[in-house]
Amino acid sequence: MLIHRPRRLRLNETLRAMLCETRLNSSDFVLPLFIKEGIKEKKAISSMPGHYQLTLKDALKECGEIYKLGLKSIILFGIPKHKDQKASEAYNDQGYLQDTIKAIKDKYPKLYIITDVCLCEYMEHGHCGIVDKKGEILNDPSLELLAKTAASHAGAGADMVAPSDMMDGRVWAIRKALDQTGFLNTPIMSYAVKYASSFYGPFREAAESTPQFGDRKTYQMDYANKSEALREALLDIEEGADMIMVKPALAYLDIIAKLKSQLNTPLAAYQVSGEYSQIMAAAAKGWISEEGVMLESLTAIKRAGAQLIITYFAKKAVQSLSNG
Ligand code: PBG
Repeated sequence: MLIHRPRRLRLNETLRAMLCETRLNSSDFVLPLFIKEGIKEKKAISSMPGHYQLTLKDALKECGEIYKLGLKSIILFGIPKHKDQKASEAYNDQGYLQDTIKAIKDKYPKLYIITDVCLCEYMEHGHCGIVDKKGEILNDPSLELLAKTAASHAGAGADMVAPSDMMDGRVWAIRKALDQTGFLNTPIMSYAVKYASSFYGPFREAAESTPQFGDRKTYQMDYANKSEALREALLDIEEGADMIMVKPALAYLDIIAKLKSQLNTPLAAYQVSGEYSQIMAAAAKGWISEEGVMLESLTAIKRAGAQLIITYFAKKAVQSLSNG
């Protein structure tokens, strides 16, 4: 006689729903938006179907739609017209991204605005920090620029800042700058565990931030490493990170699970551009179901331990959830 029949509990839809261990909902997601200065109308990102470089006006329209859908949060990336060697536009209080933050906050005060704090989009060379004559990325001088950028975003109305540069000590520098400018209650979500990943390919088209020489391996992490993830996370928490992030997501579920089990800091994961584009491309060929793989991968990321998922699928996911 067979005593254990797990299939008994899978017999019908109702029972399966009653016993479902991981449920997605609309407050799980953050949608990335790219804000580009100097274009007249939004421009499609060819490697990321359904995503655009947006003007301020388009961003407002998009936020209206997002808000109606019930999505709660966005993360903004700025692409300036002027790039230089010190990322001047990143911390220009009258910059295009800053203006966009103000405009969105004005019109949709409840939409939670996170900003990506990095210098790569604002630097001529496309690196995330200051570069010296030998092509080395200088850690400590970059901190000041990152801190100014975060304070400038908070000043424009950003609800949370998310440093993605991977310089050592930047969370500390940003916390100090935020506190000194009166933003004691602006949380920092640190891209604490960010791997040097080929999955960022499409993003670099979207954000125009491809490094002009070399790669990011002296600051982003080696994807072969796991204990280093804990070290990076702990350092950022010590420096004052309110939340930490693992990036990319699906190929790093072991890292998410490890941090979830060893830390008590809220954890986010970034399902990055390449993860999105792979699914979209295979679905366009009819090889996989877009909705099926989207929901499965997002559920897997949440099941592994992420409380918040930054994803280019945010709108589609919310639509799909509301269709039942
Ligand atoms: C900026 C940054 C990157 C991403 C987020 N912030 C690119 C990079 O590090 O090269 C990648 C996001 C994605 O691929 O969707 N430093």
